[in-house]
Formats: sequence, structure tokens, C-alpha cells
Amino acid sequence: MTDHLAEIINSYDPSGPLERAWTIPASWYTDPSLYDLELRTVFARSWQMAGRVDQVSERGDYLTAEIGNDPIVIVRGSDKLLRGFFNVCLHHAAAVMTEAAGKANQLRCPYHGWTYSLEGELKGTPDFAGVCEFDKSRNRLQPVAIVAWEKWLFVRTASGANQSPPPNEFPSLALIDQIRPLALEKLHWLERRHYSFDCNWKVFVDNYLDGGYHVPHLHKGLDSVLDYSNYTIENGEAFCLQSSPMVTAGAEAQTGAVRKGARALYYWIYPNFMINWYEGGMDTNLVIPRGVDKTEVVFDFYFPDVSDAARERNLASIEVGQRIQAEDEAICRSVQRGLGSRAYTAGRLSVRREAGEHLFHRLLHADLQAGL
Ligand code: FES
Ligand SMILES: [Fe+2]
Repeated sequence: MTDHLAEIINSYDPSGPLERAWTIPASWYTDPSLYDLELRTVFARSWQMAGRVDQVSERGDYLTAEIGNDPIVIVRGSDKLLRGFFNVCLHHAAAVMTEAAGKANQLRCPYHGWTYSLEGELKGTPDFAGVCEFDKSRNRLQPVAIVAWEKWLFVRTASGANQSPPPNEFPSLALIDQIRPLALEKLHWLERRHYSFDCNWKVFVDNYLDGGYHVPHLHKGLDSVLDYSNYTIENGEAFCLQSSPMVTAGAEAQTGAVRKGARALYYWIYPNFMINWYEGGMDTNLVIPRGVDKTEVVFDFYFPDVSDAARERNLASIEVGQRIQAEDEAICRSVQRGLGSRAYTAGRLSVRREAGEHLFHRLLHADLQAGL
């Protein structure tokens, strides 16, 4: 198995400039063993968006998430500190907290009623007297690393000597400096929507990172408000900013009404989180692998005014986003089918447009190799 994996991982060459680069091979999008390796490496070693800071502002507030194969719980302790744990009971592995979010005095496993403090210590173990060499104080929920940045909470599940963290700090100073002027504190979360795609998660990310290449062909509405020829692509260490000046002349009415301002900014943060910012709103995309050819994309929508008075306008903006997703859905399915065809092994990249994909593929290669 490892030989097979090594062979397909090494069939990608990360060296050399974009002008000479190929995409990652088709097998990376279809091979189940590579998919498993990704969950254990890419998704465990990187910082994964697990929820929003505003969901856990008070003592006892918690939220749950799934990162790769791992259930996670984030909870604000009695001391007001935020902590992250594997949401896995030490008794027989049931999820301790089962709601998406809530408030609790203690963490109580629904299976046999073991209880943990908000700080993760094992407190109550009903009917467990007489069990030898069982020290409650040595049994606590296993911690995960957690970072709060801007509106979001990120966790990293990998730890230990052979799962060394990626070399770069998260978030990088460059990213912090670029996002701060956007004044995200003025935006408020309105709602979350889930979309499902019949493709490998990387097909969705590639599509996002093609520097607007597909926009004039697939998204006529969006294209009518973007100045396509002046679209820019800038790679950071483990992120990419794609940005486009916006135009009003010739804008399609529905899109033009809710996509205004000087520029639209599209941040991708390796491997699976996107921040789409424009004047008057923001949405984030979290790309969750649900199988080698199944992907869930979670959209969170934020607006400056989330009162009832602004509801109609906010919903109109969400609708525009939803239409763009629908346009992408069919092409992602088509690409996944083609990647499984014997006619295709890998492709080339546009130097003008596809630098972001090149970065994505090289970062993936590094994580997968480290995990072999
Ligand atoms: S699995 Fe949690 S108490 Fe038994
Ligand atoms: Fe698209």
C-alpha cells in the first residue's frame, strides 16, 4: 500500500516554475488510499476552521466539529479560557457532546453518563468502583491545539514527534496584516448554508483557485461586475489572494445590486478555507471532504446589518452566491468524471491565471510526503 501511495505521490513534480508545471495527477482525485492519507496528513497537520468565536463567548459555551476523522469539541472553561478537545469519551469512545453548539456546566457523555469538567478533567464515572489501576486524574479528554483569529476558531489535531507541525505559524503575520484592514468586526454572522458537490474536495478548491479563468464562461452574472482583465493573483506562504476590480457599467441587474464597491477579494487559506469579501458583505467557504468523490461546502454569510430591516437585501446577496454555486456544481461533477477517465492523467496550468492552484498542489505534495 505504501509503495502504491509513494508511487502516485512521487509522480507529481513540485519543483520548477509555473511555466513548466503540471497539475497533480488524476489519481490524487480518485484513489481511496490517497484520500485516507489526506485525512491523516493534510487535514490533521493544517489549521482547520472549526467554528466562530461568537458561538463560545460565555463560560460553558461549546461547539462541536469534525476535522478529518476526528470529532472535536471547543469549550469556554470556568476560567473563561477556550480549549479544544477530541470529542471522544475515554470509556468506550462515544461523542461526549452531541449538539452542534450549546451551553453546559459540565461535559456529560450520553452513553454511560461519564462526566468531564469544562476543562476536560474526568469527574464522574458511575458504577466504576473496583476497577484496578484506573486513576481518574490521569484520564482526561485529549486536547487539540486551538487558535482564535478574527471571527474564527481553528484547531489542529496533529501532535507528537512524527506529526510535526507545518513550519509556518498560523495565521502568518502577512495574513493577519492583510485581513485586519477589512474591519471584519463590523460584520455579523447571519446564516449558514450547506452545499454538496459530487467531486473530490480538491476539484472544488482548484476551481476556486483558477484566477477567474472560468468566470467569463460559467458565471455570466458575476462576470458582468468584474474587470476580468485586471484580475490579480498573489500567493502568500500558505494562502492566496485573488482580487478583481469591480465595474458597474453593463452589470447584470441581480448581481450588480449586491456586488458593488472598488474590489472583490477572494482569500484562500491552505487547504480548505476561503474568505470572500466585497463591500457590504463577506462569505466564507469551508470545504469538507465527505468521500473520495463527495464534498460538502459550508457557507457562512456575514453582513454589516443583520436586522430585519436589512433582511431582504441580505437574502438577495445570498441568492447571488447560491446561483454561482449552482453554476459551479455541474462543472465540478464533469471534472470529477473526466479525472476518472483513462483519457486524462494530468494537465498544464495557465501562467496568467493559475498560480494559486500551483501553490495548492505543491503544499499538498509536501504534506502527503511528510505523512508517508
Ligand atoms: S462511552 Fe462515554 S460513558 Fe461510556
Ligand atoms: Fe466558480
